[in-house]
Amino acid sequence: MVRFQQKRTVFVETYGCQMNEYDTELVRAILTKADYAFTQDEAQADIIMLNTCAIREHAHRKVYGRVHKILHDRAGVPVKIGILGCMATNLRTELFEDRGLKIDFIAGPDSYKRLPQLISESYGEGKPFDLTLSEFETYSDVYPKREGGVNAWIAVMRGCNNFCTFCVVPYTRGRERSRSVGNIVEEAQRLAADGFKQITLLGQNVNSYRHEEHDFADLMAAVARVKGIERIRFTSPHPKDFPDKFLEVMAAHDNICKQIHLPLQAGSDRILELMNRTYTQEEFLRLVDNIRAKVPGIALSTDVIVGFCTETDEEFDQTLKVMREVEFDSAFMFKYSQRKGTIASRKMEDDVPEAIKTERIVALNELQRDIMEKLNARHVGQTMSVMIEKKGTRKSDDNFLGRADNNKLVTISDGDFQAGDIIPVMITGASPHQLRGVPVY
Ligand code: 5AD
Ligand code: SF4
Repeated sequence: MVRFQQKRTVFVETYGCQMNEYDTELVRAILTKADYAFTQDEAQADIIMLNTCAIREHAHRKVYGRVHKILHDRAGVPVKIGILGCMATNLRTELFEDRGLKIDFIAGPDSYKRLPQLISESYGEGKPFDLTLSEFETYSDVYPKREGGVNAWIAVMRGCNNFCTFCVVPYTRGRERSRSVGNIVEEAQRLAADGFKQITLLGQNVNSYRHEEHDFADLMAAVARVKGIERIRFTSPHPKDFPDKFLEVMAAHDNICKQIHLPLQAGSDRILELMNRTYTQEEFLRLVDNIRAKVPGIALSTDVIVGFCTETDEEFDQTLKVMREVEFDSAFMFKYSQRKGTIASRKMEDDVPEAIKTERIVALNELQRDIMEKLNARHVGQTMSVMIEKKGTRKSDDNFLGRADNNKLVTISDGDFQAGDIIPVMITGASPHQLRGVPVY
């Protein structure tokens, strides 16, 4: 029958961080090579894959809800459902045991090259899975199938050796391993030739990058020399790996964006120790001073967890104090969520009541909003270099949305541009989350 000869079509949906988005691009490349076709229309797909996240309970819940919705929508129409990513390695074959879910195959983050095989096996009798975590797999031989746009992600290292006590990532993604500088530079050159203007280097612990004698500073310097790459960003780093050598590379290259994500997590020394973050409040503040001295004009963003096990009101006040002192340009804030398999889940009690977590996150949000309002207002009257990302904003189809070097979103209400254009913009207005401006001719 005709159906028999057609390529099987795949619909894939991604949850979680940029690394997961990138992994979906790898999966697209691997399955395209294996003669699968991709569709944007889930109703047409023979196979639906969810590339999942496990970082907080909320991430799990979203996926359960999504699978139930797929089963409901596809009632009576055959479909294979695959779970990929961090929830796969976190929950493992428990996912098959949940009868309500009807999962057909499971693949962890280091098993995507085996997907063609797992999918074909799922048409047989068994329930195939591969959850092996590798000490070597970096997918350095797969060129991701990217969706276009101005930014391309490159995973330069994978995995994590830090074991922050709250975090599931070392268990879902395994140990750290890095690609070679030469291999990454080659990919950057190819991306420049393909028209990408910006590259974001990715890793769960990106600044612990190490390949043979090369560290992250060497890698950044090498990528910064690639012709045609006008902006380079990186995420997510750990505060423990910011030597002066790296800050000097950042300061020396115009195409390295002056922005660092510096996850604080908590302000109290006792909580930082319980979290196994390996720095004290004072050391964190000293690092901020050093970064600001070595890389003038740097923008800093952060992640904060409220209500970690045993955190008292006074200890939470220390988080507010650090936020007030540092004045981050932006912050992601989370209520602590106990994750299966982590050190905290085994050795500590998730004893801060939900209502207190909510109270703390509200207080933190209010403070951060005021800080961003103040910091953004300072940009009014300045001319910033903005890279256009797209045409059309919520307010008007004629506006353009772009990003300043320091990662702030800028709405431009005049002119005609292409995505990727970098233009000088005079900032005329500011709100806590955005800037507005007009091009300078
Ligand atoms: N609960 C809440 N937030 C978490 N994060 C990581 N693990 C947890 C958890 N168990 C946050 C951290 C991290 C960000 C990506 O997610 O702030 O930096
Ligand atoms: Fe989620 Fe962390 Fe996995 Fe990214 S690495 S998908 S944030 S659990």
